[in-house]
Amino acid sequence: MRIVVLTGAGISAESGVPTFRDADGLWEGHRVEDVATPEGFEADPDLVLRFYDERRRGVASVTPNAAHEALARLEREIGDDLLVVTQNVDDLHERAGSRNLVHMHGELRRALCLSCGARPEWTGDLLDRPPCPECGERMLRPDVVWFGELPYDLDRIERAVIDSDVFVSVGTSGAVYPAAGYVALAAAFGARTVELNLVPSDALVPFDEVRAGAATEVVPAWVDDVLSAR
Ligand code: APR
Repeated sequence: MRIVVLTGAGISAESGVPTFRDADGLWEGHRVEDVATPEGFEADPDLVLRFYDERRRGVASVTPNAAHEALARLEREIGDDLLVVTQNVDDLHERAGSRNLVHMHGELRRALCLSCGARPEWTGDLLDRPPCPECGERMLRPDVVWFGELPYDLDRIERAVIDSDVFVSVGTSGAVYPAAGYVALAAAFGARTVELNLVPSDALVPFDEVRAGAATEVVPAWVDDVLSAR
């Protein structure tokens, strides 16, 4: 049985990483257009670099939770039959042990060189304009996908969704495409669809099953059910 799990900010919320669509419409006090668009970066690169430097440091100080760990446990049991597709730029899935993982919106722990296109691993700050380890130019930006930019690995993700028997959405509001469209794609190709979320999202296509609750409770319980049904 092939399973694709799409995760969003909700899976990391209980680790202490804030979600995006808080009630005040701000992301950590900033308008999304200012810190998550190419135009925002062009208008005020220092603000954007500082913002992601703070996010990178913040994520380094938190730890994976029971939901990340449950997905890593599922991968240990079923191997490559599980693909985790995350919209999150934190590294909590890999720190929990997930390996068959796609970061479709990029990673805080990577930089992107605007001169040569290299995507080196990055744990330090970018505000002080460090040189690219590949070409030496001081043109590194966070390797995160901003609004108006193309997410990573779309071909691989779509193929996996189409080929999946079960498609599961965890902790994502379904507000951002193309990720928000994967449930419809999965359903169209015959997958069973499951949503695990604190508050069920307003998906255009209803999920076959919805389990409402905190990720640290509903994800381990769902993994237990999958493994006991084998
Ligand atoms: N357990 C489960 N779900 C939770 C929890 C929790 N503890 N806390 C919050 N949620 C759910 C919310 O109900 C909501 O549906 O997580 C979802 C978070 O939604 P968003 O903040 O919109 O995050 P996400 O869907 O990941 O955003 C998608 O938008 O800004 C862009 O690129 C960014 O990847 C991000 C994308």
